[in-house]
Amino acid sequence: MEVIILSSPESASSKAAEIFRGSIKKKPSIVLGLATGSTPLLLYKKLVQMHVSDGLSFSKVTTFNLDEYVGISADHEASYSSFMKENFFKHLDINLDNTYIPKGSVNDVPQFCLDYEKLIAGAGGIDVQLLGLGSDGHIGFNEPTSSLVSRTRIKTLTPQTREDNARFFNNRIQDVPCHVITMGVGTIMEAKHIVLLAFGAGKAKAVRDTIEGPVTSFVPASILQMHRKVTVIIDEEAAGSLLKKDYYRWVYENRPSWQKEIG
Ligand code: GLP
Repeated sequence: MEVIILSSPESASSKAAEIFRGSIKKKPSIVLGLATGSTPLLLYKKLVQMHVSDGLSFSKVTTFNLDEYVGISADHEASYSSFMKENFFKHLDINLDNTYIPKGSVNDVPQFCLDYEKLIAGAGGIDVQLLGLGSDGHIGFNEPTSSLVSRTRIKTLTPQTREDNARFFNNRIQDVPCHVITMGVGTIMEAKHIVLLAFGAGKAKAVRDTIEGPVTSFVPASILQMHRKVTVIIDEEAAGSLLKKDYYRWVYENRPSWQKEIG
């Protein structure tokens, strides 16, 4: 696991954007795993800028989103489908037929989840998976005690997560759905490269538990310690509780030049 601590969400998002640009350039038909929430917004802005100003093309890119609320339609303003269109897809040259987001309005959720897994496998698996981090250590919507080998399925949100996400529902917690469809922890772990972003003091404990705590389903993100290629990019505030903060900085600042080029 590489831990990169940068001064602000701005610089951390620039770093993440460089990684995504490098990966897309290397493989234009890349399969990306995408996330929602406040954390990736700046990264999406930067990738849009790269598309508009530098011609970074998404025309051959396929994307799979991590999760979606159950019980709201794709065109609901708080759906992750609307989020992705508004904040990312509509600004790109991406083929919308190649953008997959779980459907929260399907009748047969278990069948939909099986099909979603098949679609990911059929696309050749996810090359680079973007992750945010829930304040309770969740990834996607895999809440604490989620099986660490779980696949795409329905989950019930914790009261904490519903409260955290109420801001997307005009601060009406009663409007935040209880259920979601999410890629499983096992699904996420099959991505070839995982980039996790976390910003702000509110994420400091979850970041410490993820990087330095024991691997436990109580902190689903801690399983990332068992993945071969994870890049964690955080700002100073999110790094606030890390015990080995100075070591991670030192490692990053002293990367061999060939590693710097890879990004
Ligand atoms: C939601 C999403 C996660 C996201 C998390 C953090 O629960 N399902 O994928 O990482 O929130 O959100 P934020 O970035 O808004 O803090």
